[in-house]
Formats: sequence, structure tokens, C-alpha cells
Amino acid sequence: MNVLVIGSGAREHALVAALANDPQVDAIFAAPGNAGMSSQAELRDVDVNDPTAVTALAVELDADLVVVGPEAPLVAGVADAIRDAGIACFGPSAAAAELEASKAFAKQVMHFAQVPTARAGVATDIDTVAMMLSEFGAPHVVKDDGLAAGKGVVVTDDFDEALEHAKQCLNKPNGRVVIEEFLDGPEVSLFCITDGVTVVPLQPAQDFKRVADDDAGPNTGGMGAYTPLDWAPEGLVDEVVRTVAQPTVDEMARRGTPFAGLLYVGLALTSRGTRVIEFNARFGDPETQVVLASLKTPLAGVLYAASTGTLADLPPLEWYEGAAVTVVIAAENYPGTPVTGDPITGIEEAEDVEGVHVLHAGTKAGPDGVPVSAGGRVLSVVAQGPTLAEARDNAYDGVGQIFLRGSHYRTDIAAKAIEGSIVVSSQGAGQ
Ligand code: AMP
Ligand code: GLY
Repeated sequence: MNVLVIGSGAREHALVAALANDPQVDAIFAAPGNAGMSSQAELRDVDVNDPTAVTALAVELDADLVVVGPEAPLVAGVADAIRDAGIACFGPSAAAAELEASKAFAKQVMHFAQVPTARAGVATDIDTVAMMLSEFGAPHVVKDDGLAAGKGVVVTDDFDEALEHAKQCLNKPNGRVVIEEFLDGPEVSLFCITDGVTVVPLQPAQDFKRVADDDAGPNTGGMGAYTPLDWAPEGLVDEVVRTVAQPTVDEMARRGTPFAGLLYVGLALTSRGTRVIEFNARFGDPETQVVLASLKTPLAGVLYAASTGTLADLPPLEWYEGAAVTVVIAAENYPGTPVTGDPITGIEEAEDVEGVHVLHAGTKAGPDGVPVSAGGRVLSVVAQGPTLAEARDNAYDGVGQIFLRGSHYRTDIAAKAIEGSIVVSSQGAGQ
């Protein structure tokens, strides 16, 4: 099988690495890809948001399967164009990707599918925003309706800050904001592979969205992740498939816009039960880095089955024992405008650490073969281990080998899970 992966982050590097381990895969291409993938994939340049250009590339490469990593190409209709050319594509249509592209649309679908989520209102003017903020009370949750690369959400006790964020969102063309009730409790990311009918959940993971330790500072794309979640209530995955993923997939099919690809379910385990925080229409970054490291079943067959309507025939997925942890190394000033162009050293030494591999995100090949930073999230250091504590130690040993001037990372990835201090106060599954 020839596989073309679209995107250039650590998530796509993780996809390439998993596909490279699949004996069914003959050749991997990545467009545009990144410096770290070049030993496993042939890199090609393409405007990932141009459906015609991506389709032409897939045809030229004789791709049997195209896997679309990021949301923007999906929203731009890349998966539709590839399928129209008769090539299997893992990723939803533009119409189905609205589940991620519009939080207001996602809320509407959840309402029809009776999926448990935060109470919310949509506003297009600041007076309505102010009214809703007062009604829901603090902590305030204000979300840009559209795509914002993980940075469109502000959660704050400060009314004025909430109002200010809403103003900025409303100032955009067709600006709309979603105001929500605050959801307490630990967060879980559950990836569900679907062909539009059948839903196959992957192992749940936890992401760390805030930039600094103890969840301080602004939201980012994600600063680290781990899997599995030994603290999660028994039956959580089955509950989420039954009450969230399957009803959502069924509702999308009922609307004539079936969702085939990866439904990313972001959840809060609140004191009143499990609630959806958000849907995404693609693999999450950095959770993918740990989930795919843990998946034993060869990946290409799973993605191909989802892309060709044959998931029901897929044997149950198999997983490695043990745990996986990833720590993201970010450039100076991320999640603001990152400082780029600095050399990165120590990657090979990091990979010499037991159980560690390093995935590239914002890197490019520099002079003398030394990679240089080229984005906000620069590297994702992934480690496996027989226990979560060992995987975490390995990950930080790896991180310790790497030097990038001005870079920063969180030091508390997976720490609370290991301490046993994550509290789930819901009365168990189904509440
Ligand atoms: P989203 O883009 O909707 O996933 O939001 C990004 C992050 O903001 C989430 O992962 C949560 O940490 C936080 N967040 C979003 N919605 C809520 C909510 N209703 N209550 C509490 N935190 C939230
Ligand atoms: N890790 C969060 C996301 O991919 O949106």
C-alpha cells in the first residue's frame, strides 16, 4: 500500500512512524512533512489546503490511502476531492468537519443526538455576551466559534477578560462566540475511528493544554500527554461510545453528511457526570504521539477500513502493555509568536535513552545537518515504559538531553496520575 500523509507536525510524524511499522505499507509520502520524517517518508511539497493540488499529488504518487492530519485541509474539502478521484482518504468531508470548524454546529448536533455537554449560548454581539456571562456566572468560558488552533478558548474568573476575548472574536469577519457553563473535573481525550457507521475507540489519553506547570498560563495546542488512564472510571470508554460517539456518528449520517475519519471526543469528567468539551475532526496533537506508540495493531489497515466502510470487519484492536508519555518542547515565547531559527542539539542522545523516540514538529533541516527550530511546538519527546512512572522518567531523561536556546516544556506531565491525586468526583459512568 502507498500512503500519503498530509501535514507537518509531530502528530503526522507519529502517523508516519506507525505506518512505517506496518508490513502492509510499501511506501510512505508526507506533504509537506518535516525534517524528522525524511528517513521514513519521501517528502513532497504541496499547499495542504488546496484540494486540487493535494489530489493531483495523490494521483501522481499512486497513493492507495491518503491520511489527512490537520483540520484546515479537511475544512477546505481536501478529503472530498481525494475521494472524488477514487482514492481512499482517512478524514471527514468538509461538511462533516464542521463538527470541529464550528463549535455552534457541534452544539447543535449534540443537542439533536442528546449528547451530554456544557450548557451554552451563541452570541454575535457584545451585549448578549455580557448577559450570558452574568447568567452562567464564573468561571467564565468564552470560545471563538471558528478554528483557532487550540487558542480560541478563554477560561477565566475575570469578567472583563472574558468580555475582552469575546470582543476580539466578534471583531473577526462573521465573528461568533460560544459562551458556556464551566465544567469541573479531569479531562480525557478519546479518539474514535469511524467509517460513518461503525465506531472503534482507541485508548483514552490525557492532554495538558496550558503552557505552564499546574495548568498555569494560556492555552496551547497541547504541551504533553500520556496513556493509558488508570484512574479513569471503569466502563468510561464504552459509556462514551454509547452516549457520545455513536449517537453523533448516527446523527451526522441522518443529516446526509456522514462523518468518516477520526472523531476526537474531548471530555470533562465532572461531578455531574461525563460531559463533552469539544469535538475535533482529526487526530489530536500531542495525544496521537502516545496513543499510536501504544497501538499494536498495524495502523494502515485500520485507517484503510475506516476509509472504505469496512470497519465492522476489523478484528479487535490490540495494545501494548505499559504506558507512554510525551513531553512537548516549545520554542521561546510560544504560544505567542515563537522565536525560530535556533539550532537543536541532543536529539540522538535523547533517542539513546531507554524507550525514547523523538518526533519532530516545528523543525527544519539546518546547515551541517543540525535541525533548527521553525515553529511553536518544536519536538515531541515520546517514551514508553512498563509503568507510567517509568515511561515518564524515560521521557524526561530524553528531554534533558535536548538543547534549544530559550525553549520551555512542562515538568508535570503525568505527575498527578502517578501520585494518584486525580479525583473523579462523578458517581461513575452513565451519570
Ligand atoms: P476547546 O478548544 O473547546 O477544547 O477548549 C480548550 C480547553 O479549554 C479545554 O481543553 C479545556 O481545558 C478548556 N475548556 C473548554 N471548555 C470548557 C468548559 N466548558 N469548562 C471548563 N474548561 C473548558
Ligand atoms: N491536543 C488537542 C488538540 O489536538 O486539539
